[in-house]
Amino acid sequence: MTAIPLVDLAAQHAQVAGEVAAGWQEVLARTAFVGGPQVAAFEAEFAAFSGVPHCVGVANGTDAIELALRAAGIGAGDECVLPANTFIATAEAVARAGATPVLVDCDPATYLVDPDAVAAAVTGRTRAIIGVHLYGQLAPVERLAAIAAEAGAVLVEDAAQAQGARRHGAGPGAGAGAGGAGRVAATSFYPGKNLGAYGDGGAVLTADPELAEAVRLLGAHGSPRKYEHTVLGFNSRLDTLQAVVLSAKLRRLAGWNEARRAAAARYGELLAGIDGVVPPVTLAGNEHVWHLYVVRVPERDLVLKHLNANGVGAGVHYPTPVHLTPAFASLGYGEGAFPVAERAAGEILSLPIYAEITPQQQDRVVALLAEALLAEAVA
Ligand SMILES: Cc1ncc(COP(=O)(O)O)c(C=O)c1O
Repeated sequence: MTAIPLVDLAAQHAQVAGEVAAGWQEVLARTAFVGGPQVAAFEAEFAAFSGVPHCVGVANGTDAIELALRAAGIGAGDECVLPANTFIATAEAVARAGATPVLVDCDPATYLVDPDAVAAAVTGRTRAIIGVHLYGQLAPVERLAAIAAEAGAVLVEDAAQAQGARRHGAGPGAGAGAGGAGRVAATSFYPGKNLGAYGDGGAVLTADPELAEAVRLLGAHGSPRKYEHTVLGFNSRLDTLQAVVLSAKLRRLAGWNEARRAAAARYGELLAGIDGVVPPVTLAGNEHVWHLYVVRVPERDLVLKHLNANGVGAGVHYPTPVHLTPAFASLGYGEGAFPVAERAAGEILSLPIYAEITPQQQDRVVALLAEALLAEAVA
């Protein structure tokens, strides 16, 4: 039986291989490996796709968050509120910008940041609220935007997992796609993302031209012109070869996201008949792009082991909330600080999902999941 990966990058590559090879050939012919015209073209295409006026390509998603914060003037002495249930990069970027991550708990059904917890965490030093669009759906941005406005803070989106996701409805930020709801947004093109490069990549999106310029300056050694350095910057740019890949994939992203939605709907039907599985919940008004399909099961580690042992690349996103990682022990939260996130971390399970997943593959994943749960029930 062939393995079923968590995400099938080979199947995705097969669809763009010709275009990528031709595009790379052009880059090789011109040898403009950094900042070639393909980067500017991709930035314009991704801005249009996201419905946001400005896009600045950077080296990865973590840099994108850090540079967005720095460009917004956030640094030492400032607090940024973000969920404990996120990939560590969200908190890492805040700390790297010199600010203090203030963590909050998540919603028990969607695992997205809990806006009530965000409101309760606001202090006189809060300068940013980071909404993480986890697993492929937007955080409750209208609430977050209102809390940010009242606090005199900016809403920053971590849109790494949500390229193409939308939030319908009324209010600030609603009606926007991922990247268009806050003052500034950061995304990642890590290979496994819905829009993934063939290496690292990231981007900052914003409607504010000055903020976009500030990000561009910071990412280019603080240099508006060659050998002129007006601020202390970084080397964080999107490679030309990656821009070619991303442009080719972007043309197919809407279709791929649609296929992910169909696969998620099919999982929903298949899992409905299985006791013990809590399926994912979509926040009302959200158009999900299913970066990850996260269920909740009892004895998660045993279930995961059974799936992995049978060739299913299920995973956990994430097994340790940010506050319990040794890297952030210094924040001083400790166990019990965020009970919803902590409990979820022990029970969540990501099933394989990608645009090319077949009904047969999904049947097999669900059959193995049912088998594992039954074995537990019997044990
Ligand atoms: C929610 C979230 N934020 C930030 C990042 C950081 O992106 P990168 O790995 O490109 O630095 C990722 C992905 O890795 C992510 O999933």
